[in-house]
Amino acid sequence: MAKTKSFSCSACGAAHARWTGRCDGCGAWNTIVQEAPLSAGPASKSLGTRRGQAIALSDLATEEAPPPRTLCGVAELDRVLGGGLVPASAILVGGDPGIGKSTLLLQAAARFARTGLKTIYVSGEEASAQVRMRARRLGLADAPVQLAAETNLRDILTTLEAEKPGLAIIDSIQTMWADNVDSAPGSVSQVRAAAHELTSFAKRHGISIIMVGHVTKDGQIAGPRVVEHMVDTVLYFEGERGHQFRILRAVKNRFGPADEIGVFEMTGAGLAEVTNPSALFLSERGTPSPGSAVFAGIEGTRPVLVELQALVASSPHSQPRRTVVGWDGGRLAMILAVLEARCGIPFAGLDVYLNVAGGLKISEPAADLAVAAALLSAREDAALPADCVVFGEISLSGALRPASQTENRLKEAQKLGFTAAIAPAGGKTGTVAGLTLTRPGDLTGFVGETFGAG
Ligand code: TYD
Ligand code: MG
Repeated sequence: MAKTKSFSCSACGAAHARWTGRCDGCGAWNTIVQEAPLSAGPASKSLGTRRGQAIALSDLATEEAPPPRTLCGVAELDRVLGGGLVPASAILVGGDPGIGKSTLLLQAAARFARTGLKTIYVSGEEASAQVRMRARRLGLADAPVQLAAETNLRDILTTLEAEKPGLAIIDSIQTMWADNVDSAPGSVSQVRAAAHELTSFAKRHGISIIMVGHVTKDGQIAGPRVVEHMVDTVLYFEGERGHQFRILRAVKNRFGPADEIGVFEMTGAGLAEVTNPSALFLSERGTPSPGSAVFAGIEGTRPVLVELQALVASSPHSQPRRTVVGWDGGRLAMILAVLEARCGIPFAGLDVYLNVAGGLKISEPAADLAVAAALLSAREDAALPADCVVFGEISLSGALRPASQTENRLKEAQKLGFTAAIAPAGGKTGTVAGLTLTRPGDLTGFVGETFGAG
């Protein structure tokens, strides 16, 4: 039988019948590649009538002890993992090349090894000498981590089976090569096969496996999204190259909350954990200036204050620019439309820029009101009060909706020396001592109270 080739997207793994320029699965351009089909067994045969074994079923109420967890002592990492490392789990750490994944995992490996967990670090990208050199620079040379530079998956699995570590780190999944799959390392089928083998190995042998996955912008090698569904936990390591802040974000976690973030700072001696991110994100804030608003947000289980910066300038273009860094562009368009339709404040003919300071990416709808405050402050050229935080969701009708965890947000603001807050009326709030709360009923009320007539 002639082997038919199939096509799949190297960004998301979606299968396609023929080559196209754009993947309809994830919208990425130029990521469709031709692949040898995965062996799915002979398709024409059904399971047949041969009987299998009956599976023992149990009910939901069956008592089971929670999985034992190992803490590495880096609070930012332990929290993002959902309270430590769970045995027999597979974790994917994705991120842009050069963002610091290998640095993070080498530091984590050293920490876990020092707690007594047997740890193996397999690098498919760097020679052992290179990893050793980095460890020396990070002051980790004496940590009891076992190293290997290898890409052959069969050899790696055999070694892990013999050594029985508690934790194995595979850096990176795109360099792994499974000899039963007939395509190049880094291709969709290789990455999938390697991740599948490693994940099922982790389950069978009760070891934790952390895989590194490079995020790629073109279709040359498959990105980490191809394997997201197989693993238990997906963490993304993000940050701007120019900034020293790095954020480890849980986007999927079978053993803890998703959306949890850990904040790190890249220093000359590796990654240092940042235990008070609000202070860090606000540290670059000078005297109050027009266009700046402080948003009291929640990232995972923790309140985080961050500065939003807006610039509104008259546009020389027929189509004014709308540029957003760290927030959703569609959401910005919505806020501008609501301000225009419900409050009569037009932004036509004006360029609008919005930036979340510190390289943080915000996805909470509760940022709406803070964005509106920054935009209005920039447009009116009037600074907001210096010690005031803002949060709340804006609906299309111009009504304001209270945000979740109002009290936690207010407490964090109070802790950092803020004395006032603007948040929608309704919802549950305790009063927080030392904080004056303004509670506008709708967006028009907010504009009136904060910027006079608007
Ligand atoms: P690396 O961990 O190799 O990135 P990745 O594995 O995600 O590709 O990190 C590379 C960058 O980190 C490199 O540009 C230098 C920087 N770095 C520091 O600033 N300080 C350090 O102590 C280390 C080890 C790296
Ligand atoms: Mg690396």
